Amino acid sequence: MRADYPRLAKVIASLTKDETDEVAIMATMACELHHSDDRFSWTGFYRVVSDGLLKVGPYQGGHGCLVIPFSRGVCGAAARTGETQLVDDVDAFPGHIACSSATRSEIVLPVWNGRGDLIAVLDIDSEEPEAFTQIDADALRTILDATFGRLY
Ligand code: SME
Repeated sequence: MRADYPRLAKVIASLTKDETDEVAIMATMACELHHSDDRFSWTGFYRVVSDGLLKVGPYQGGHGCLVIPFSRGVCGAAARTGETQLVDDVDAFPGHIACSSATRSEIVLPVWNGRGDLIAVLDIDSEEPEAFTQIDADALRTILDATFGRLY
């Protein structure tokens, strides 16, 4: 099963339209995304809690590490650079944080609110190598911007 992104965008928009609490929205999105695609083994958010520091937010999958500084891992790179990280092979990514040794590839996108503040990163991991493409990156960007871009 592969994510039907246009359908997911509609479902997430409809489920979260009256909600302004970031964590409630993140929990809903993590659940909807995770169960939509067989490639996704871990789906969730790391929230920006202070300068240069991420802490785990709502997620689905096996346990995730609790704290990630901006200086570490794929999540840290996305937070630090503001650029989506498409990692075909996590073993080739310097400083990758292995929460699960089964993870082979991942995608991490920065999440901004409507003020342009970085509030989190969305991390999706896969046990398949090279699981993600620019198609995933573009579709997830659209959903994140539509969902969190209306929060101030
Ligand atoms: N993939 C992350 C670590 C978090 S977990 O995989 C849930 C990273 O290297 O940033």
